Amino acid sequence: MLLYSGEVCEIHINDLDPAIAAFWRSVLTRTEELISLIQTTKVTIEERSRQREIYFNGEAKDELSIGFSAFFLNRVNRSGIIRTGGAIGGISQKGKYLIDCRYNASELSERIRRIAKYRSRIHFSSMDARDFIKSIDGELPRRSLIYADPPYFKKGSELYTSFFRQNDHEEFRDSISSINSKWILTYDNVDEIKELYLRNKQFPFSVYYSAQTKRSGDELLVASDTLKVSEAVDAFMMTAGRKPREQDKGDRVPPTGVFV
Ligand SMILES: C[S@@+](CC[C@H](N)C(=O)[O-])C[C@H]1O[C@@H](n2cnc3c(N)ncnc32)[C@H](O)[C@@H]1O
Repeated sequence: MLLYSGEVCEIHINDLDPAIAAFWRSVLTRTEELISLIQTTKVTIEERSRQREIYFNGEAKDELSIGFSAFFLNRVNRSGIIRTGGAIGGISQKGKYLIDCRYNASELSERIRRIAKYRSRIHFSSMDARDFIKSIDGELPRRSLIYADPPYFKKGSELYTSFFRQNDHEEFRDSISSINSKWILTYDNVDEIKELYLRNKQFPFSVYYSAQTKRSGDELLVASDTLKVSEAVDAFMMTAGRKPREQDKGDRVPPTGVFV
């Protein structure tokens, strides 16, 4: 992460989804309680049902429980899809990979503890992306970068509680295009998005999500005009925490494959 390496000194994270927001606030303000939940919760199909109940009927529950339910479902559902993903290994748990294969409690706890150490330099907000962009424009230092990862154009409504409709994608394009800071964003590589960002530099790439989903379709990196190509690629590699493959290092154009 950029903070660990000293590449940046402050990070601002924004997501409108209340459960994602509850997770981030728990990481930053209730770290040890969250870690205790991670370490003591059994990773079973029955527990997944209980966490789904909390996630979908969460109004009455506290932020820690809701945040943990989002985290738990992200770890035990296929491709990390919280709302609609099936359990890894299926309900009968007969698959090659089982429900706990992405849930290494001690490693996850360490990752959360490490993030929380930097809490004074991590700022979380839960606003609509357009309002967030407006609120930071003019406030950021000159040497700053915005990385936006908006809801997918095609499958957004299946994947996220909050998603974008056509006009939201357009309005978001208008907001981000109007600011002074440098930015990059990633999207699904579809004609509608290519069209929407016709005036910007565009670089297709692919993501390898997991052992099960080897190459999950093409994605698109779009960069503001203020970024040079090499800067845009470096920024993307750093922001997404992805390392260039050996054969891609030194490329002046984006690699065709990115591994996560
Ligand atoms: C492609 S995902 C981003 C995932 C994130 N970059 C990550 O790596 O975990 C899109 C995110 O946008 C959020 N979102 C949806 N509508 C939004 C809005 N109007 N304003 C801000 N965030 C929104 C969703 O909750 C979802 O988490």
